[in-house]
Amino acid sequence: MTQVIRSSAELRDKVAAWKRSGMLVGVVPTMGALHDGHMSLVREARKQSDRVIVTIFVNPMQFNNASDLEKYPRDEAHDLAMLEAEGVDVLFAPGVDEVYPDGFSTKISVAGVSEPLEGAFRPGHFDGVATVVAKLFGMTQAGRAFFGEKDWQQLQVVRRLVADLNIPVRIIGCPTIREADGLAMSSRNVRLTEAERAQAPALHAIMQAAAARMRAGVSVQGALLDAQAEILEAGFREVEYLDLRTAEGLRPAADLAEPARMLVAAWLGDVRLIDNIAV
Ligand code: PAJ
Repeated sequence: MTQVIRSSAELRDKVAAWKRSGMLVGVVPTMGALHDGHMSLVREARKQSDRVIVTIFVNPMQFNNASDLEKYPRDEAHDLAMLEAEGVDVLFAPGVDEVYPDGFSTKISVAGVSEPLEGAFRPGHFDGVATVVAKLFGMTQAGRAFFGEKDWQQLQVVRRLVADLNIPVRIIGCPTIREADGLAMSSRNVRLTEAERAQAPALHAIMQAAAARMRAGVSVQGALLDAQAEILEAGFREVEYLDLRTAEGLRPAADLAEPARMLVAAWLGDVRLIDNIAV
């Protein structure tokens, strides 16, 4: 049975009892509308921990757009059934007042790695992520936390946060889970129309082809410009960024001298898709 807990005091007691009996506690932070990408993190957590907490909290502080927050899909009953099936011990699903009570005044800002890409197009987004993730670590007291490479920049921000603030949790990055046609799984995919859903896999295919051209010696800038044009030709409305960066520091990468990551954000109709691959 997955126990649903909404109060951090109750969660703290539960976790303290687990830890007294020597158990390693893993946490998977999410915003719900769970899909197989999330479940791959849950399965990894199950393997690497004695007890697993999944958190579901649609964090208002990380949304820089009121309608995106309002339209964010929510289905806790369905999510709970999926977590039950994977043997998750606790679903921690606090309300907004539990996370941000009256008088809440703290904001955590991770400089550097949170500034380009998503940080440039979604001002304040990573402050919201860093703040809520730090709180979730405090509330769950977990020893391991599982994050997806799907949100590559977020993973780097969380690693920096934990190192800088000496938070006693080990961050485990897990590979991006894709649909059979290559589209990265995302809670926002349900908002694509049927026609858009058919166009969406082009994003990943075009990035893969551009990465192959880079590896074959085509200039990084040339391959990125061509790929950007191809994404627009494939029916996307706008490419916010398509860039090659060093994998960990996310500094601009002009060539493949260091491990690099290609990252994209593009609009398909009303849906903003992000993706990234190793190059
Ligand atoms: P959410 O978008 O719900 O994602 C929760 C976790 O699932 C993140 O670590 C994300 O990278 C991972 N994930 C999503 N899609 C994935 C996929 N296709 N393959 C592998 N992992 C995938 O990211 C957030 O929530 C929030 O920002 C959060 C960290 C919970 C803070 O509010």
